[in-house]
Amino acid sequence: MIETPSRSHELLRRQREVLFPALTPLYGEHPIVVDRARDQYVWDIEGQRYLDFFGGVLTVSVGHCNPEVSDAMVAQLQRVQHTSTLYLHELMVQVAEKVAAITPGRLQRSFFTSSGSEANELAVMAARMYTGQRDVITLRHAYAGRTATAMSLTGHGTWRLGGVFDGSIKHVRNPYAYRAPAGLDADGLLDLCVQDLEETLATVTDGRIAAFMAEPIQGVGGFIVAPREYFRRVLPLVREAGGLLIIDEVQTGWGRTGRHWCAVEHWGVEPDVMTFAKGMANGAPIGCTVATPEVAEAVRGLTFATFGGNPVSMAAALATLQYIERHDLPSHAERMGSRLFERLAALQRDHPWIGDVRGMGLMAGLELVVPDGSKRPDPERTTALLAAAREHGLLIGKGGLYGNVVRIAPHLNVAPEDLERGCALLAAAAATLA
Ligand SMILES: Cc1ncc(COP(=O)(O)O)c(C=O)c1O
Repeated sequence: MIETPSRSHELLRRQREVLFPALTPLYGEHPIVVDRARDQYVWDIEGQRYLDFFGGVLTVSVGHCNPEVSDAMVAQLQRVQHTSTLYLHELMVQVAEKVAAITPGRLQRSFFTSSGSEANELAVMAARMYTGQRDVITLRHAYAGRTATAMSLTGHGTWRLGGVFDGSIKHVRNPYAYRAPAGLDADGLLDLCVQDLEETLATVTDGRIAAFMAEPIQGVGGFIVAPREYFRRVLPLVREAGGLLIIDEVQTGWGRTGRHWCAVEHWGVEPDVMTFAKGMANGAPIGCTVATPEVAEAVRGLTFATFGGNPVSMAAALATLQYIERHDLPSHAERMGSRLFERLAALQRDHPWIGDVRGMGLMAGLELVVPDGSKRPDPERTTALLAAAREHGLLIGKGGLYGNVVRIAPHLNVAPEDLERGCALLAAAAATLA
């Protein structure tokens, strides 16, 4: 009997003929071909429904096609779709006002672009123009995007393509508690990270830097959470070297980590520049760099973003931020997060191959290892768990330098019953793996 190829397989065949192979879907041998989505669900073109616990990489923050966000976008689309930054549009000012009101400290001036990569590109450029220095220090295991500067900032070899990187960007040890050198406790690891920063400043810079840049929780890195004292410990060294603190909240922003709008508020430091993207506009293309007035002031000269502050993206951002505010989703994420971590801790007790459970709020990672006490990463089981979850109708993500961290990030407005159902589906999927 001749098997009729499914619509998904047929589409995959066509995509290979017309798209870069690098655009092959990353997840699974049989990738999902998305047809439509609504609230917590995604449907593939075969009609299968999935509960979405990854939100297009933490981007669909308030549910797929959230009517408040979609309606605002459609209304804007019918009014004016594009202006470019050659002209002013009220929505851009309104979103910037909201960002200034929400972000901590003296962050008051925004610049909008279309992606997190561009937001980071500008953050580094602004720090260099403000300080007159070139060197930037960031962390191993960081991910900052796919422009040349963003790839240079990235501390994952596999995400650094093309071979020409900015040599004035240096990477220091990240505070990766689960993979700390043997015998080091939490304090010892913190000391080691601070020492590495000191040595890096002394050995491969002239003692002056433009910036130190970090994600409070490394996203692509596998939801590695910086210890509570981390930024307070590194900041004096950064200041002594004349550097700015740039915090990348592309994944962690807008209530994702619970209680606060911005993750960095949990660490009690005030950055000079922050970057956002992803969940800020619930899926509409956006990047946002927000800086103190004096840093913004230093960016002089001609610079332009055709799609920066695009009215439709701005309408989406304003509606998304208003929705998060009106429903107090940072508090909801904190409540749902503690329930999620309880369920994941129980799952870990059942499965010795779950080496670590970590994260904050609605940003949870499971690091999968070979269960022989060696902590050897187990990317194969990670892939198998993603596939089993999909079989059970649940979408989750993965990450980590070794491809062995399951990433779980339900929408910020996840209902308690969906949270429970997602955890039950994950447990059922995990039970199928020996
Ligand atoms: C922390 C972080 N920064 C920056 C980026 C780059 O964002 P974009 O893909 O929108 O360019 C990402 C994307 O995953 C990210 O996770």
